[in-house]
Amino acid sequence: MPDATRGRYKAGMSVGALNEEGPFSARGAQRTAPAAAQSKAVQPVKLGPLTLANRYFLAPLAGVSDWPFRLLCRELGASIAHTEMISSHGLVYGGDQTLSYLERPETERPFAIQVFGHDAEILARGAQVAVEKYGPVDAVDINMGCPVKKVCNHGAGAALLKDPALIEKFVRAVVDAVGPLPVTVKLRSGWDEEHRNAPEAAKACEQGGAVAVGLHPRTRAQLYRGRADWDLITKTKRAVGISVWGSGDLFTAEAARRMLSETGADAARIARGACGYPWIFRELLALERGETPPEVTLTEWRAMILRHCALAVEEKQGKYRIVRPDDAPRPRPRTAADQGHPPFELDALGAELAAVRELRKHLLWYTRGRRGGLGFRKLAPQLHTVADIRAALDRFFPEDGSVPAEVRQEPEPAGPLTADD
Ligand SMILES: Cc1cc2nc3c(=O)[nH]c(=O)nc-3n(C[C@H](O)[C@H](O)[C@H](O)COP(=O)(O)O)c2cc1C
Repeated sequence: MPDATRGRYKAGMSVGALNEEGPFSARGAQRTAPAAAQSKAVQPVKLGPLTLANRYFLAPLAGVSDWPFRLLCRELGASIAHTEMISSHGLVYGGDQTLSYLERPETERPFAIQVFGHDAEILARGAQVAVEKYGPVDAVDINMGCPVKKVCNHGAGAALLKDPALIEKFVRAVVDAVGPLPVTVKLRSGWDEEHRNAPEAAKACEQGGAVAVGLHPRTRAQLYRGRADWDLITKTKRAVGISVWGSGDLFTAEAARRMLSETGADAARIARGACGYPWIFRELLALERGETPPEVTLTEWRAMILRHCALAVEEKQGKYRIVRPDDAPRPRPRTAADQGHPPFELDALGAELAAVRELRKHLLWYTRGRRGGLGFRKLAPQLHTVADIRAALDRFFPEDGSVPAEVRQEPEPAGPLTADD
């Protein structure tokens, strides 16, 4: 089968947020990795009492790291994959949408959640509800990095960075509520350029009982703009005795490995680099073993997309729907006659349509930087069912590896990208 990783071309590279043009073209480990005489062992990493198989994690990604995507990344090597940030308020008050973030196959172990909130007591109670009513949960991460206004205006997410005393209090409350489970914290560099206090914030986390911090070294003010400041990962690592997980601009396996070696971070949390390219984990493991990462074949690439579709439909059909135990919080009825939230169930077609709607972003990422992607993406708004997706794949990326006439008109590949472009 022809190599489907060729044909990734430069498409307005910028280190932007997920939906901006950019980092997704920088895919595919260099095929010139030195062929080692002997395969090296992959380094495990501790997460409190847990030993994770390797240092490569899928980062929490709101709207992206649901169980299907976590499953695909884990199958390709991610040793842990956190849920997206879950509202502690929602956990305490039993919202259906909130519970949906806890869905997963029972084989997903360790199962790690991320919670957020603006009130230490609710945050702790929310984490406790998740652990006690919807476990097994193996690890809890607290979000202190979300830059979104709606979250920060309430004093949650990155807003907590402004006050290290508060950080310590929040962490301690969660540790007291869910201990002995390991508690970790996701940080940014600080609130803004004048307040880049990640090392101090990490110390406060350590004081509060966290076993690790994850650092995305951009300030809240930066959002996803500019370059991630890996030096701050180094400084944070030096400031604390607990583990530090680095994140930021890890668009290729080489970049993630470089971040680890330059900063001394204990693990790499892959975020946008895994979107549309879960093979990054396989490449990371191959590079760590000293092997040349295998290429992603067209057959594999198509199969991955179709499998992702199938899992997304299952997700919408409620394959792992959370059952609320009798003693778990449940939403208040909205009126006296109302017995609670409307049922969440979709029929088969409804589930498929909902799944494909949500999958569109993944389809854009899978096809970015790939010859045929321009045509495919133009068609994306018209894709509603899995059969539509399959037909579009057949049209632009035929299984036999041939290049259709309409694809031949797309720009020629301009060479691989790096996050430095
Ligand atoms: C769409 C999107 C959603 C995200 N959601 C979360 C989240 O729920 N929790 C969190 O801690 N970080 C979240 N992040 C931040 C990432 O985990 C990561 O730290 C950040 O993207 C930097 O890594 P990168 O430059 O390699 O993408 C999100 C990032 C993006 C782009």
